[in-house]
Amino acid sequence: MSRKATASAPSNIAFIKYWGATDLDHALPANASLSMTLEVCRTTTTVQVHDDDGPDTIRIAPGDGTLTTAPDSFNERFARHLARLRERLGVHGRVEAVTHNSFPSDAGIASSASGFAALAYAISAAFDRLDTPEEMSVRARLSGSGSAARSTFGGYVMWPSDPGAPDSPATQHASPDIDLRDVIALVQGGPKPVSSLEGHRRAATSPHFATRQEHLPERTRRLSDALTGGDFDTFTELLEEETIDLHLVAMSSTPPILYWEPGTLAVIRSVRRLREQDGVPCAFTMDAGANVHVICPPSSEDAVAAAISALPSVHDVIRDRVGSGPRNESEHLF
Ligand code: PMV
Repeated sequence: MSRKATASAPSNIAFIKYWGATDLDHALPANASLSMTLEVCRTTTTVQVHDDDGPDTIRIAPGDGTLTTAPDSFNERFARHLARLRERLGVHGRVEAVTHNSFPSDAGIASSASGFAALAYAISAAFDRLDTPEEMSVRARLSGSGSAARSTFGGYVMWPSDPGAPDSPATQHASPDIDLRDVIALVQGGPKPVSSLEGHRRAATSPHFATRQEHLPERTRRLSDALTGGDFDTFTELLEEETIDLHLVAMSSTPPILYWEPGTLAVIRSVRRLREQDGVPCAFTMDAGANVHVICPPSSEDAVAAAISALPSVHDVIRDRVGSGPRNESEHLF
């Protein structure tokens, strides 16, 4: 008997970033992180489980009706995630998978969060083993991608750091009723120069890493209060401070990691101009890459999108918003 299921899961953008691990292989983070689940940027994955033995396969559907093979690095992480999912669920079978990102695959947007969360959902659905978002968070994180642990909830998500609790699932921190938008400025196509996995590995070599860890609990508490209390000015200050702190650690690691491109700075300056000169509430943040996420209330979205679209170094803009989390999809990709 073969079983087939399709699920989609969203990407997320961290307000407080996971950067550095106590156990990288199992993605046990050095610090708690807090993110906003997106809605538009998502991965859809179809899996078919066959009873016969043989190698698992994954192909990519770019969206033009064709299917392409995945790069080796992707295949390795997929195979490892599948092996761990089978073990946790106690199931067997050869897996054939096809996956599609709603955003351009060369856009430089982190797709591991949405990709591995979608895989965990599709496999669980194929075996009729969908579970709570907390358990699904643990299954998504078996991939080794920590941010995937946060993509199994809608709204705003906290992923604690608890070395004593190896499962430590993420939890929903606030509902999507807090309506924030994410206008994503794409300033770089193609893969980032250094993977986040390698970034986590190098994080503790930065002389600023320990100071960052000292400040994080207080920053996380204050940012969370500002988010849930609707204090966008304080939220802005802390979000941007945290973004610069992450990149300060990356830039001062051994060897240093420089994610910023000229377009990154152009967007940051434009965000500051919008806020300080035109009175438009908006705040920048970034993950481990050159692209800039501009977080803003709905009333600022059009002005932000217009301003950053006009910058010559921005080659595309994606308008996203806080989302409701993963879902089953009725249409299969193959
Ligand atoms: O989930 P990973 O291992 O790809 O790491 C994510 C790293 C950041 O995007 C920079 C921060 C985060 O918390 O999402």
